[in-house]
Amino acid sequence: MNIGVLGAGQLGRMLALAGYPLGNRFTFLDTTGSPSAGVGEVIVDPDNQHLAEFLAKVDVVTYEFEHLPVTLVQEIEKHKPVYPSSRAIEVCQNRVEEKALFDRLNIPTPAYRVVESAEQLEAAARELGCPVVAKSVTEGYDGKGQAVLKAPEEAAAAWQSIGHAQLVVEAFVDFVREVSMIAVRGRDGEVVFYPMAENQHVDGILRYSVAPLPDLDVQMQQTADTYIRTLLDELDYVGVLALELFQTRDGSLLANEMAPRVHNSGHWTMDGAVTSQFENHLRAVQGLPLGSTQAIAPTCMVNVIGREGDNAAMLALANTHLHRYDKAERAGRKLAHVNVVAATHTELLEKVRACQALLPDAPPVEWSFTNTL
Ligand SMILES: Nc1ncnc2c1ncn2[C@@H]1O[C@H](COP(=O)(O)OP(=O)(O)O)[C@@H](O)[C@H]1O
Ligand SMILES: [Mg+2]
Repeated sequence: MNIGVLGAGQLGRMLALAGYPLGNRFTFLDTTGSPSAGVGEVIVDPDNQHLAEFLAKVDVVTYEFEHLPVTLVQEIEKHKPVYPSSRAIEVCQNRVEEKALFDRLNIPTPAYRVVESAEQLEAAARELGCPVVAKSVTEGYDGKGQAVLKAPEEAAAAWQSIGHAQLVVEAFVDFVREVSMIAVRGRDGEVVFYPMAENQHVDGILRYSVAPLPDLDVQMQQTADTYIRTLLDELDYVGVLALELFQTRDGSLLANEMAPRVHNSGHWTMDGAVTSQFENHLRAVQGLPLGSTQAIAPTCMVNVIGREGDNAAMLALANTHLHRYDKAERAGRKLAHVNVVAATHTELLEKVRACQALLPDAPPVEWSFTNTL
């Protein structure tokens, strides 16, 4: 099967690397003009001239990037199967739609308002109580298009800095930790769940994901499974869906956002789970049986951002795996990740700290469960 992928960044690259053993070929459609996948066939199409050529080559279409025109995806759906569907893109690329779906399915989220001016932003900040987080409704990723307001008086400056016509304003959650769920739904409706991961973000960018969690209670994992299953079934979804959540002090979970694709917080599965999220996504879109999502051992994904580190020294650590994206160094850019696998979480922490020391800009590791190890 030739898999068509919308977007040609590192997620597409890793999809292809997982698909070659299955005998898949890959054609990427890049609308940005700067593809980095470095594998498969890449059609660079910033002016939307080559859609027919792309469609003629592919059997099924998926994507690694959800900030695409919905009309483009709907057009593709007229010719080839697209998984996940354009409906998933429509919801997941728009924070208002996403929140509305969470509300409708009774999935708890932080209190929020939708605003369309600096005055409305100020009023929402007063109503919700500061701090609040203001986020552009569309196009946000890696913390871009966001501002935290410590007081309602900061509304004018925040509105200016974000520069979008519509924002979602959320109460700031004093979370114990951020977690995420990665689940996969097959064409036949079968659903499998990866163990929940704990995610550490700095300035809105993911730095570390660790899974499985040593202190996770069964109830919480089941609650998260139920939330994501409800979303998958509602959207008649096929493929990998990621759901980011906040764990609050009283032990409940609040949904933050979701992504209709393979996700950075699921990269640990490449070396830490029986089947990676990439392979399972491809199995799903092709109608193949889904693979086991079981974790093999405690694993931590370390993002390499901005500048590369001492790769040889990291690889010299036992059971450490480097995944580079063939991208040039640039501030804030995701260049690679390192998956560190260990027999115990204590040993894992030691090795992740060793990696951190070998990466120029890596922040200190702060897992919520460190002092229980
Ligand atoms: N309501 C909130 N309360 C506290 N922190 C938040 C809130 N919303 C976002 N954040 C922080 O900002 C990060 C990025 O926000 P998110 O909504 O996930 O946007 P992005 O699309 O950029 O990933 C989150 O992972 C979290 O660390
Ligand atoms: Mg996020």
